[in-house]
Amino acid sequence: MSGTSLDGIDVAIIDISGSGFKAKINVLTSHSVPYPRKIREALMAVSNTNAFTGDISRLNFLLGELYAEALEETAERAEIPLDTIKLIGCHGQTIFHEGQGAQYLGKKVASTFQIGESSVITERLGIDVISNFRERDVAAGGKGAPLVPYLDYMLMRHRGRGRVAVNIGGIANLTAIPPNTNTERVIAFDTGPGNMVIDQLISRITSGGEHFDKDGTTAAAGVPDPKLLAKLLRDKYFRAKPPKTAGREQYGAEFVSKLLDTELSSEDLVATATALTAESIALGVRNFILPDMRVDEVFVSGGGTHNPTLMRMLRKALEPIPVKETSEVGLDVDAKEAIAFAVMAYETAHARPSNVPFATGAKRSVILGKVTQNGPATRNGNGGSLANNGNGNGVVVHKAKVPRGNGVSRTAVPAKVKAAAR
Ligand SMILES: Nc1ncnc2c1ncn2[C@@H]1O[C@H](COP(=O)(O)OP(=O)(O)O)[C@@H](O)[C@H]1O
Ligand SMILES: [Mg+2]
Repeated sequence: MSGTSLDGIDVAIIDISGSGFKAKINVLTSHSVPYPRKIREALMAVSNTNAFTGDISRLNFLLGELYAEALEETAERAEIPLDTIKLIGCHGQTIFHEGQGAQYLGKKVASTFQIGESSVITERLGIDVISNFRERDVAAGGKGAPLVPYLDYMLMRHRGRGRVAVNIGGIANLTAIPPNTNTERVIAFDTGPGNMVIDQLISRITSGGEHFDKDGTTAAAGVPDPKLLAKLLRDKYFRAKPPKTAGREQYGAEFVSKLLDTELSSEDLVATATALTAESIALGVRNFILPDMRVDEVFVSGGGTHNPTLMRMLRKALEPIPVKETSEVGLDVDAKEAIAFAVMAYETAHARPSNVPFATGAKRSVILGKVTQNGPATRNGNGGSLANNGNGNGVVVHKAKVPRGNGVSRTAVPAKVKAAAR
């Protein structure tokens, strides 16, 4: 998985069996590989902007190489033999997303565009790849996002508790799951900016020297400006009813340039942007969740959990609802989205749908993604493709013993995540 923050590639290797929401997952390992600076800059230069098509084509193939390398590195660190990995789910890097559609050449067109060529990944690793998950949901009338509610519902639903899962990536999104419910009462949407505005401010303030507010220190040194914050929170996006999605289109360079056009100190500006993320998440909960359901606890994941200033502001904004991290239910905060796409790939390989129409607004449940099959014979012994995966084995079938806790970046989450989440 690589998200809108453009920070890098998150890999999760999981063992999965069973089907649908009853599938059993065991997360074997997860690891993040940052994008080299030049790649991040090149991606930024083709994201929601005027770009040379040649750059997009080259980056598409280059990212395929980087994804393959990131998986190899992750498997090696955890001593998981590549030939035990049966299937890869690759989200790719979004460079444009307009799920709600726009007038274009006389027609209303909704579209989404992820790059990271699956053929390269399959060819390098000899493993089937499912990629391009979002397009089918968009074609089915959905916004193509958020897709992670599938995993949120699978792992976090609870008989007696109302839960909200919040992911703070570049954009922040939430999934609300009432107690003892089916997916038809799940509410999910993007609440607004996550780290994206903070990251860009830091990058502009430091002239590219830094690209995020490490440990929230800049924000902690400032004070949010109440007037600017109130003005930003009046934006109509926060009042718009879900389903709704946000992206670099709303919170990109233009938005940040306007923010920089104030008299505030850098610290106060970053503190205000951090408060905007916290307050807009809380607004999302208050306006669209609390009227419909009881919220007993909020579980946060994503890079934003590493920013203590943001987490402090979020806890305060959501008071008295307890705010926890997903690691408390056995889900690594940095791996949740990668795990989600591994699970969705597994569902696709078994010809089962995995969008949540109530989250995306799609007219129906659809099978997500495109398949790049490896074919029968390969260098590393993998092969047989999806046809051989139909026996209940999932994204990873590992025959080798997986060592735990010795040099693996983020070692195996306790077995049976699902049990822990209940
Ligand atoms: N130590 C940290 N302190 C503050 N922010 C952090 C830290 N580590 C990660 N982040 C934030 O998390 C972001 C990455 O989050 P991530 O969940 O990967 O987002 P995405 O899914 O959009 O890629 C970084 O861009 C940064 O803003
Ligand atoms: Mg990321």
